[in-house]
Amino acid sequence: MSASILTARYLSKVVPSTEGALSILHDLSFELNAGDSLAIVGSSGSGKSTLLGLLAGLDLPSSGDVQLAGHTLTALDEDQRARVRAEHVGFVFQSFQLLDNLNALENVMLPLELDGRRDARQRARELLERVGLGQRLSHTPRQLSGGEQQRVAIARAFAAEPAVLFADEPTGNLDSHTGERISDLLFELNQERGTTLVLVTHDERLAHRCRRLIRLEGGLRVDNLEP
Ligand SMILES: Nc1ncnc2c1ncn2[C@@H]1O[C@H](COP(=O)(O)OP(=O)(O)OP(=O)(O)O)[C@@H](O)[C@H]1O
Ligand SMILES: [Mg+2]
Repeated sequence: MSASILTARYLSKVVPSTEGALSILHDLSFELNAGDSLAIVGSSGSGKSTLLGLLAGLDLPSSGDVQLAGHTLTALDEDQRARVRAEHVGFVFQSFQLLDNLNALENVMLPLELDGRRDARQRARELLERVGLGQRLSHTPRQLSGGEQQRVAIARAFAAEPAVLFADEPTGNLDSHTGERISDLLFELNQERGTTLVLVTHDERLAHRCRRLIRLEGGLRVDNLEP
């Protein structure tokens, strides 16, 4: 596959602060093809989560633009961006963002039900089994460990078979064995369905499994790959 699925052009993000304007991302450009995998790495505070939010249309840049699955996100309003996300994007947040009053199964079913899928329950159960939580279906987030919540969040992000899966530290709270299983699952999805992966990670092994790498330092891209 070689169609472009995600393009960033001259992305910058400047936020106001008490010391004046603070540049948290500067002039970042790259292009990904469908089925690619990209690792975004860099130290804490280098702008990784900020970049992920801009690429997924959760936030808007101060300048530059993002094209996702043929849509120019930066030209759309919030509702339009939400629709593009619902159709094409899965997102695993650094803080999981599971719904506290729904159990694991219901959390994963939700996007499928919103999508009108009649096999929502069956598919959610399969996904949770795949992340090793077949025995935790009726547990609410509070009854799950951090790593288990992370796996529910990953199952939920996979659920609607997104074209692009964004994940902020998908193995960050997991022991090395479980982290490896989650990595395997991400790349199985990448291979089986051509899902494009965009991963923020401190996990060197996971970063090395990705075809592409962007390294940030103080909001600047410091690797020397071609855009
Ligand atoms: N809305 C905002 N207002 C002011 N500063 C912000 C805002 N969002 C992010 N920042 C700052 O921008 C920098 C980059 O933040 P970001 O969350 O992208 O870092 P990160 O690379 O994901 O770090 P970590 O690895 O710790 O998650 C940080 O110094 C942060 O304090
Ligand atoms: Mg972050």
